[in-house]
Parts: sequence; C-alpha cells; structure tokens
Amino acid sequence: MGALPHITPVDRTDLPPAFPPGFRWGAATAAYQVEGAVREGGRGPSIWDTFSRTPGKVTGGDTGDVATDHYHRFREDVALMRELGLTSYRFSISWPRVQPTGRGPALEQGLDFYRRLTDELLAAGIEPVATLYHWDLPQELEDLGGWPARSTAERFGEYAQLVAQALGDRVALWGTLNEPWCSAFLGYGSGVHAPGRTDPAAALRAAHHLNLAHGRGVAALRASLPSTALVTISLNLHQIRPLTDSEADREAARRIDAVGNRIFTGPLLHGGYPDDLRADTAHLVDWERLVRPGDAAAIGAPIDLLGLNYYTPALVSASAPAAARPAHGLGDHSPWPGAERVFFHQPPGRATAMGWAIDPSGLYDLLTETARANPGLPLLITENGAAFEDVPTPSGEVHDPERIAYLHGHLAAVHRAMADGADVRGYFLWSLLDNFEWSYGYGKRFGAVYVDYATQCRIPKASAAWYAGTARSNALQPPVSN
Ligand code: FCB
Repeated sequence: MGALPHITPVDRTDLPPAFPPGFRWGAATAAYQVEGAVREGGRGPSIWDTFSRTPGKVTGGDTGDVATDHYHRFREDVALMRELGLTSYRFSISWPRVQPTGRGPALEQGLDFYRRLTDELLAAGIEPVATLYHWDLPQELEDLGGWPARSTAERFGEYAQLVAQALGDRVALWGTLNEPWCSAFLGYGSGVHAPGRTDPAAALRAAHHLNLAHGRGVAALRASLPSTALVTISLNLHQIRPLTDSEADREAARRIDAVGNRIFTGPLLHGGYPDDLRADTAHLVDWERLVRPGDAAAIGAPIDLLGLNYYTPALVSASAPAAARPAHGLGDHSPWPGAERVFFHQPPGRATAMGWAIDPSGLYDLLTETARANPGLPLLITENGAAFEDVPTPSGEVHDPERIAYLHGHLAAVHRAMADGADVRGYFLWSLLDNFEWSYGYGKRFGAVYVDYATQCRIPKASAAWYAGTARSNALQPPVSN
C-alpha cells in the first residue's frame, strides 16, 4: 500500500503564530496577595498575617490586610477579566477562610465567597481554576508544628475534601499546591517567607509533607469530584544552568536540581525520592523514617496536567568568583539544604524590577525538557510574568512596553516549544492585578492591571490591551503597545 504523500503545511509568515483551539488564556492571583478582608467572614489568621506583622519581615511593613480588596471588588475584577478576553482565571482558596483553625467543619461563610466568585466567573464565560494552597497556612496548624509535622498533610486532605464537596459542581480544574519549594525552603529554610523558620532539616521534612499533602489532596479531590475534573499541581521547577562545563559546576547544578526540582518531580512523577538527593541530605534527614509505607503510592497518584511557574533561569557554580551572589540568595540562611556551597550568579542581559534576568529560552528549555521526561503528561503554564516600575501618566495611562516585550518573548518561546512537541494546554499570566508581593510588599508590580492602592482604582496597563488582543485572536500579536 502506497504511503500518503507527506504534506508540508505552508508557513504563513505573514500571520501571527496561532495557538491550538481551546488553548487557555488566563491570569493568576493568590488569596493572601489580593483578597484583603483578613478579619471578615470569620476568617482565621494565617502564617502570612503573623509574618507580615513581624517587624523587618516585609518591606515597608506592608501586610495583606487590605491588599487589592478583591474580596469586595471581585465583581469589578471579573468584569476586567472579561475585557481582557481571558478564558480562565486561576485563584487560590484561603484555607483559614474555610477552616479558621485548619481543622473541623467548613465555615459556610468562607465557602460562600468562593461560590460567589465562581458563579460570577461562570456567568462571564470564564473557567474557574482553583488552587487549594498558595502559602496561607492557618496559624494554628503552624503552632502545632506546621509543614515539618506530618499531621499538617492529613489536615490538608480533610480541607481539600471540604472544598471539593462545596465547589465541585462548578470548578472543573483544580490545583493542589502552589510552588511547594517556596513553602518548604523559603518558609522553613531561609526564613524569608512565612513562617520564617531557618532550620534545614525542618525544611526537608516540610517538603515531604507537602508532597504527601498533595497526594492526600488528589485522593480527596478524586473522591468528591466528577470523573471529568482535572487535577494539577504548580511547581516552580528551577531552570538550572551551570556557569561553565566543568565537572564541579555541573555537580553544583546537579545538587540544586536535586533539592530544587527532583525532590518534587521524583516522588510525584517518577516513583520516589532520588538517591542523590537522599545522599546529599543524609546528614539532615533520616529518609527511611520520614517516608512511611504507602507514602510513595499516595504522592505518585496520577495527575492530569503538570503546572509550571517560570520567571527566570538560575546560573550556578561550585566556586565563588567576585560577581557571585551569596550562595544563600536572600537572607543569611540557605534555602538549599545539601547544596549550601553552590553559588548563584546574575545571568547576563536585562532584568526585571525583581532583578530577575529576562530569558525566554529558559521557558522553552523547561517545557521541552519536562515534556521529554514525562511523555503523555500535558503541561500548563500556571504563572509567568514580570514586575516593572509602572507609573501612570498624568492622564492616567500606564505604558509598560517592557512587560509587553517580556510576555511576547515568553509566549513566542511557548509557541516554539509546542511546535517542538511540548503539549501545553494554556498560559496564565502572573498577575491579573498588581498585588502584595510577599516579602517585597506592594513595591513590586506584576499586574496587567495597575492598582492605585490609595483608592483601589484599577487601570488596565498597555500590556492588558496587548494580552487581550493575543487572547481574543488565539494568536501571538506583535509586541507593539497601542
Ligand atoms: C511566584 C508566586 C506568586 C508570585 C510570583 C511573582 O513564586 O507563586 O505568588 O509572588 O512568584
């Protein structure tokens, strides 16, 4: 039988690069960063309430008390999303709104806020994408040991079940955790995030219990949701590049990859913790005791998509030339147990207001490498974006050509990665709105929409209009600001 002739598609270079039908065009936020209303509706305190009120922890003493007042202004914000042509909105659910102490029955008032939000989204034709945990652990659970305690993972499973039962009829795409690396290693290692502990062994235990919490969460979601519901987790897999090709620098990159990436992808996707990670950290943790029978199966429960958050690559070396940043990054304590003698360098070229190097090739490599390592697992970019020093003009416009260039460059990389085989199902811009940027407070603006914090007035930036054009046409528009 003769083979069909291979037809080469005509490369229409005059048309903007198109994305497949059904590609998600989203924006993301997180509860503590946008909601405010921290004392309303019976909400209990979270570790971020405590941490942000601790002098010296957050720039300017900023807290999430008011944030962008999304709790009260969500209707206006959903209307903005509609103007932006978004197909999807990724938000997180505040655990202490649902269970003020992290235990016991759900508070209906807390769930009602998310019922109202999701109803509003659905009425606007926008897909709600709910993340169960974006760093706001109920303070009482921290007082009982926090993520280094195994019981916190069990509590998370119970919480997941309560939320799934309440919102399962209207949310079809669920995320368990956002960036568990940050929760474990910035929260308990370097201490620059809540709860601000600096104990490398506790950070490693936290990582395992976050993995276990994910597993318990997946089980709870599967038990309560229709079989069509999709489940994901958002990982900030570090795109690590050795400074040179020397054996020592490649070994430095391996160590960071172990405790930065494979500590999550190993048990989640490949059957268990890698041997080299166990060896690097054996002086800190007894892995045989930490990981109990049944944990591997729970953590490795299949997921439907893998969420990836990407901002910038990491350049690492084994020795410390003059330009290297302190190995520990922020603060005096390392967030890299077992890799404390690795040095981080500023990659060459332009950087955002965070000082993060702008390098879309990191996203291309991340997508193609992750796709190759996990055949058959669709990917979702659950965060990507940039902070710049946005200032409104006297007539009240915000021109942000650098953000448009950043988004264009990264979306072009996504398109290229897809052409090269990565199965990417959507892109969520970080963030819908300027918001509380954790230890940086309100000084760093990531939004497509500018927020005047004095009035809570929202001003869509030029990048919002650009993104809307791309989302509406499902094709990457040229990076011109109108
Ligand atoms: C990610 C967080 C998100 C936001 C961006 C800038 O690590 O998930 O909440 O702070 O960084």
